[in-house]
Amino acid sequence: MRNFHISRSFVAFTLFSTILVAINNANASEHQQVHIALGTDETEMVITWATIESIDDHGVVNFGTSSDNLTDSVTAVTTYFEDDDAYWYNYRALLTGLKPSTTYYYRVGSKASSWSKVFQFKTLNSGNKWLPSFAIYGDLGIENERSLPYLTKDVEKGMYDVIFHIGDMAYDLYEYGGSRGNNFMRMLEPIAARMPYMTTTGNHEKAKNFSHYDARFSMIGDRHQPNYSADLTDRLNNHFYSLDIGPAHIIIFSTEFYYYTRWGWEQIRWQYRWLEDELIRANQNRKERPWIIVMGHRPFYCLVAGDKCNRKTLERGPIKNGVHYDKTKKSQLNYGLEDLFYKYGVDLQLYGHEHFFVRFYPVHKNVSPSRPKETNPYEDPVAPVFITTGNAVRYFIYYIQPTNSL
Ligand SMILES: [Fe+2]
Repeated sequence: MRNFHISRSFVAFTLFSTILVAINNANASEHQQVHIALGTDETEMVITWATIESIDDHGVVNFGTSSDNLTDSVTAVTTYFEDDDAYWYNYRALLTGLKPSTTYYYRVGSKASSWSKVFQFKTLNSGNKWLPSFAIYGDLGIENERSLPYLTKDVEKGMYDVIFHIGDMAYDLYEYGGSRGNNFMRMLEPIAARMPYMTTTGNHEKAKNFSHYDARFSMIGDRHQPNYSADLTDRLNNHFYSLDIGPAHIIIFSTEFYYYTRWGWEQIRWQYRWLEDELIRANQNRKERPWIIVMGHRPFYCLVAGDKCNRKTLERGPIKNGVHYDKTKKSQLNYGLEDLFYKYGVDLQLYGHEHFFVRFYPVHKNVSPSRPKETNPYEDPVAPVFITTGNAVRYFIYYIQPTNSL
């Protein structure tokens, strides 16, 4: 009987694997998984896509302001990704010289192979005298993707300017020889091909040193990033980068560097120094962009103890208070981010990871600083306001749509 059960499980597993490979290879030669990301500013957009089986060295983006007249084209940079059973070809193209606040139509592919359908996106407004609308969430998988129908409808209505997915995707991208990642990216295409889909990593992207995540996304950030003048594939800043959007300076960073130190410690220090440079520059430019918003994956404060969260203080010490960088317990804590973000007057911090939505009062060092009675704590807050929005896997995404005038 025991052998029979093993044999039956094996058959089931083999059948399941075969189905997954078949799904993975469905339309394998087609240009697919199209998604876009903001470039340096409102005049640029990065288009990223994949083919599974076949390389197409002539992959291009045709684009224009009319859906039946795609007059311009940009040749993509092609790279090959391989890891165990996973493999695919990535195509990345940087569109430049776009007009602000303009709808563009585009397709990807090539004459020699095939073309995708025609997609569209709208570039951002220029300047700071407008109020952007963002969808912000963490924790969206290929199963239990309860927010996706709402998100899709909202995108079709043009409710947002940018989507931020702040870590934990697909659960997990690398699984089943990368086919879970392929299917997730196909699932996202209706929204991510139309709206800039900006990302950073969560704990579920950690596999293989975040390489599956890195292979699928193309964040570059603004012109102040250290590798700004490099070629496109050397300009990728998928873990930390910044953007100016309307009246806000937005800084995206990795909380995961503090937890996966088996991939090294140096990135904690590099990121911290970059963050401080960014915050100094953002403050110098504060009249122009008065909001400073940071986003990462794991929140400093938690409502559910455990999962790397201190049961007594309900805080995640390494990110919030720092790490023993020289690895001796007696040494000073370094590179904690709470003091840094407080010192430079960050207004708003958004995180995912915990599968619910919470908005805190302004908080610093575990308390909400006192303020005059009857005042609105969120108006010109005395400390950063924290929002946890890791609930895409449940029912709703959270979006910020300012209603006050500038
Ligand atoms: Fe997470």
